[in-house]
Amino acid sequence: MHHTPHETVLEIEAPRVKFGRGAIAEVGAEAAALGLRRVALFTDARLAALEFVERARASLRAAGVDVALFDGVRIEPTDGSFRAAAEFATSARVDGYISIGGGSVIDTAKAANLYATYPAPFERYVNAPLGEGAPVPGPLAPHIACPTTSGTGSECTGIAIFDFTAHAVKTGIASRRLRPLLGIVDPDATRSLPAAVVAASGFDVLAHALESFTAKPYTQRLRPAVPSARPLSQGANPYSDLACVEALRLLGMHLVDAVADAHDDDAREAVMYAATLAGIGFGNAGVHVPHGMAYAVAGLVRDFRPPGYDADHAMVPHGMSVIVTAPAVAHFTAPAAPDRHRLAGALLGAAGKVDDDQTGDALADTLARLMRATGIPNGLHALGYRPADVPALVEGAFAQQRLLANSPRPVGREDLAQLFAGAFSNW
Ligand SMILES: NC(=O)c1ccc[n+]([C@@H]2O[C@H](COP(=O)([O-])OP(=O)(O)OC[C@H]3O[C@@H](n4cnc5c(N)ncnc54)[C@H](O)[C@@H]3O)[C@@H](O)[C@H]2O)c1
Ligand SMILES: [Fe+2]
Repeated sequence: MHHTPHETVLEIEAPRVKFGRGAIAEVGAEAAALGLRRVALFTDARLAALEFVERARASLRAAGVDVALFDGVRIEPTDGSFRAAAEFATSARVDGYISIGGGSVIDTAKAANLYATYPAPFERYVNAPLGEGAPVPGPLAPHIACPTTSGTGSECTGIAIFDFTAHAVKTGIASRRLRPLLGIVDPDATRSLPAAVVAASGFDVLAHALESFTAKPYTQRLRPAVPSARPLSQGANPYSDLACVEALRLLGMHLVDAVADAHDDDAREAVMYAATLAGIGFGNAGVHVPHGMAYAVAGLVRDFRPPGYDADHAMVPHGMSVIVTAPAVAHFTAPAAPDRHRLAGALLGAAGKVDDDQTGDALADTLARLMRATGIPNGLHALGYRPADVPALVEGAFAQQRLLANSPRPVGREDLAQLFAGAFSNW
């Protein structure tokens, strides 16, 4: 038999999700069906005061499930805020987790569950090279994730992202074991979302779909020596393509309207569905260069304070940090996969026939048009960065080898420097 060195096997992670208006009222029944008696309910301070969270609590009460509330989640979490959440979870003596919030909340619940279930020094499970990248020893406690932003798709992924303060860069913990047992995705949650959050988290969705769709195909990766070494981020593949193409189509049709009008229920629901689809797509394929660069952008924030976010600290919202470099990256990656870049541009609204050597331009122009239409700042300059910051940004991004390896084109330090330089203004 002939053995090729390249990957021939695709692994399909199909997360369990309930989607639709009113779904949040089923959280109590679902928790009870999992046998949960007492859960830690994670949310943030703003959400804790909203009716949506109260609906979830009423449902849990009706099902006889006891709640220990943690509403101290930090927006754009850090290693310190993950640790504090884990301490809460350890002392709360719970048998399961419910998270109600954006990616900040869902990721915090994942980390709390991990460290409360398998206590370890913090670095143990953190991605290498900043952490040890040790495997999670066994299953975690059941976690039901209920997203309230049309954003991260974290309910579908085994990833928890945080800002590693001492290193001034974002990184994460990645393991199939972190994936919530169930996502309850109720578009009603998005009615109270400020426009700026719909815009930033919507571009996170767009970036998940676009990067997964243009990632290095899984068949171009080397086959792992043992099955357990197959990465979560497998590269572009036929299963994630299905989800990503539909997510891009929905965003092209509805993102601008969803940002502009909190009462446009159809547009907000469509973007919420796109967020879940893109989470399925990137949970199976993985993202690449813009996300790798974003972790440096966010980690090196100076004094930017975004409108619409309830944070008492400087921060660049994740979706903003990702999308500012996406046009520059589109130019860079298009030659490696022109057909995919052309289709992505068309799904997002690029009109007319696009030649092979123009697909990067067409996609970059379309991205810039969508960003302008939704109030995203015009590039790194508007977020407070200066050309002198490029070397530090490059180092932060270069450390994200797990993501850069998923790029359709090899990316070195000089490429990253050029891409950052090209992202200071996008129009
Ligand atoms: N785990 C993953 O797979 C994954 C993927 C992408 C991003 N992330 C991470 O997720 C985080 C970002 O999450 P996010 O974009 O969902 O936003 P977020 O959780 O940071 O929340 C943003 C703001 O919106 C508010 N908010 C949330 N829902 C609301 C609602 N329904 N009504 C009113 N206000 C509401 C929050 O209080 C906060 O002020 C980042 O840390 C990012 O790195 C994780
Ligand atoms: Fe993201």
